[in-house]
Amino acid sequence: MNLHSVLEGYTAAQMVVAADDFGWWTKLEGANGAGVVVAEDGALPQTVARALVRAGWLEPDPDEVAQAEAGAGSGTGARFRLSDEGREVAHNRGFVRVVARGWMPTFHALDEAPVHAPMLPAQTQPEDVARGCTDIARRCPETFRVIAERLRADPGTTIDLGCDDSGRLLELAKLAPDERLAGVDLSASVIRQATRRNEKLGLAQRVQLFHGDVTPRMPPPQWLGARLREQVTTAMSFFLLHQLASDGGGIGAVLEGWSAWFPNLRRLVIGDGLLSPGSRWDEQPWFAPTYELYHELTGVRLWAEEEYREAFASLGWTIAERCDVDHPMLVMYVLER
Ligand SMILES: C[S@@+](CC[C@H](N)C(=O)[O-])C[C@H]1O[C@@H](n2cnc3c(N)ncnc32)[C@H](O)[C@@H]1O
Repeated sequence: MNLHSVLEGYTAAQMVVAADDFGWWTKLEGANGAGVVVAEDGALPQTVARALVRAGWLEPDPDEVAQAEAGAGSGTGARFRLSDEGREVAHNRGFVRVVARGWMPTFHALDEAPVHAPMLPAQTQPEDVARGCTDIARRCPETFRVIAERLRADPGTTIDLGCDDSGRLLELAKLAPDERLAGVDLSASVIRQATRRNEKLGLAQRVQLFHGDVTPRMPPPQWLGARLREQVTTAMSFFLLHQLASDGGGIGAVLEGWSAWFPNLRRLVIGDGLLSPGSRWDEQPWFAPTYELYHELTGVRLWAEEEYREAFASLGWTIAERCDVDHPMLVMYVLER
């Protein structure tokens, strides 16, 4: 880590998000990675495109260059393709969005915090965190295939605890047609928007969404009716367990609480970030230092792989599958008993 990477990395991240807002990365990744974007309609897109060329992530479209050399074509020099290095950036744009926009309010809050303040409250741009998480999930279609294969072999009802905009449930709806699906999230606006979208897609009956808290308390919360409790056979939760476990007695206590909610539970699907064993930033996979710092500032604990495994074993859950969610510190476990 040097001064150059501190200063230019910050600016580059803003350019990556701006290009994402223009929809460029999706277009560039199209046509098997040979997609083209045209940055001729305005000074801002042209500036962003030039910045991405200077960073080494875009390159002028070779077809346009050839046409210009032959004296044909518009010759505007506004068409760009991904470079090899740019492919990695395009693929990982969700992480960039979470860091550069989603978590920025918490890092900014350091400005005003008194030196002896307790931890900072987690402040986020929820839309950016949601969009970044959806992007990260999109990169990993094999996780859905792994889950769906088990659901197809043993159908029932799957509930996603902390489902955000229900993107994962929509993927499972395609791959496990006999599975009943439900989701719940604390954010009322996210659930409202997702319900509206699912209605338009004709999926509101298939994917039942609730606004509510999944902190496992007894008696169960109002959103969780007796019928749903009986129906659920698979409980799934991505990138939330670490937080609930910090607030309430550890991983085992949360899983025990969810098991008490669902008497017919026979499968758990848990996705989360692991505490990295490296201490220096250069000993950790990228994103791990930022992930850890964000959580340290907000007082949320992260958990090591060993702690997840011990909690699963102590409750009688066997790990049927373990997959990286396309990053070494993001892991999905499928647990059965
Ligand atoms: C980091 S996001 C992960 C979203 C989604 N599971 C995914 O992997 O893409 C955490 C989600 O949990 C929701 N959440 C946080 N605390 C919650 C709680 N106590 N009960 C229900 N949802 C909660 C947030 O609103 C947010 O949508």
